[in-house]
Amino acid sequence: MMRPMKLAGSELLFGKGSLEYLEKLNAKKAVLVLAGDFLYSTGIMDIVHKHLDNAGIAYVPYVGIEPDPYFSTVIKGAEFMLEHNPDIIIAIGGGSAMDAAKAMWIYYEHPEIESLDYITVKENFPKLRNKARFCCIPTTAGTASEVSRSIVITDDETHIKYGIGNMEMMPDIAICDPVTTLSLPNHITAETGMDALCHALEALASTRANYLSDILAEASALDIFNYLPKVINDPKNIDYREKMINAAMVAGLAFTNVSLGITHSIAHGLGSLFNMPHGLANAILLPYIVAFNSLNIDAKAIYDNFASKLNEADLSKALFALNEKVNIPSKLSERITDEEKFLSKLDTLIEFAIKDGCTKTNPILPTKTNLKNIILAAYYGKEVPKQL
Ligand SMILES: [Fe+2]
Repeated sequence: MMRPMKLAGSELLFGKGSLEYLEKLNAKKAVLVLAGDFLYSTGIMDIVHKHLDNAGIAYVPYVGIEPDPYFSTVIKGAEFMLEHNPDIIIAIGGGSAMDAAKAMWIYYEHPEIESLDYITVKENFPKLRNKARFCCIPTTAGTASEVSRSIVITDDETHIKYGIGNMEMMPDIAICDPVTTLSLPNHITAETGMDALCHALEALASTRANYLSDILAEASALDIFNYLPKVINDPKNIDYREKMINAAMVAGLAFTNVSLGITHSIAHGLGSLFNMPHGLANAILLPYIVAFNSLNIDAKAIYDNFASKLNEADLSKALFALNEKVNIPSKLSERITDEEKFLSKLDTLIEFAIKDGCTKTNPILPTKTNLKNIILAAYYGKEVPKQL
């Protein structure tokens, strides 16, 4: 079967010192979209400013993107861009900053579009790059928004998170310099690192997986298993940071082409309904989902093959052990402590997961009962039922 793959935009830079590439951008004016002021205190912005100054590129910052950005933030940012008229947009931050900036880019290029709904329809998606190119500088090793065609934007009124994917949103330039991740606190390193591992393992077992995505997904998953505990124990080690930011990016090259699975489907709902951070939700769910997916003979063979490369017998158990090493809880109830509230939203969570775009490529298309069993097992820290 023909398998199309799009690996990043036109320029992909990685390795220590790669921020220097900013001097090669052919641009006159940049809007820098930043998650928050903290980026100034880490020294990252000094490096960015130095390179932009050397290149003679004028710049103006747009600061302040909340986690799981709202559509109103997107519109504010697009209005800011319309005032300043950049020919390049540079997003600097984690997944939320990069996603918000991608969405701002759409509404900057096309101010005639006023709603979020409009771009959720594939046929409506507008052409970009008439006014500006788009560059991402990730400051976490996790979401891989720098090489993905996807965004997650929250509706202001319903609080529903819309996952929107279109190749038009693939950033033109991605610069993955490990220096940007040196100041991350350990819990963020662990949660975002487990999100990246989840991207790799869900891509590996995706029903759309192919020869090339498998190579990328397996290599990145092996590196994350190896280096995530090391970087947690030695967070200022730039070599470990480099392994992690590269692995997260490579997992992104895989999943943006072959999609994900129900770990992400359920994690999206946990984010919407309980504000659980995306990486944390994925990290806790992943060992349970691997146990469930192992009921499919093909998925089990994929997991067993991967586990053998770690010298492990059981991937689900290896994931529980990895979570423990990086201080991630083993069950959802440790973070969502109001049991009554959790159970009252269980049906909605299941509904969200059934409808989520990532469910389509999971190795088993789950029933509502399957999902209920998985979610309850993950909430209480019990075993997933061993039959469908
Ligand atoms: Fe993710």
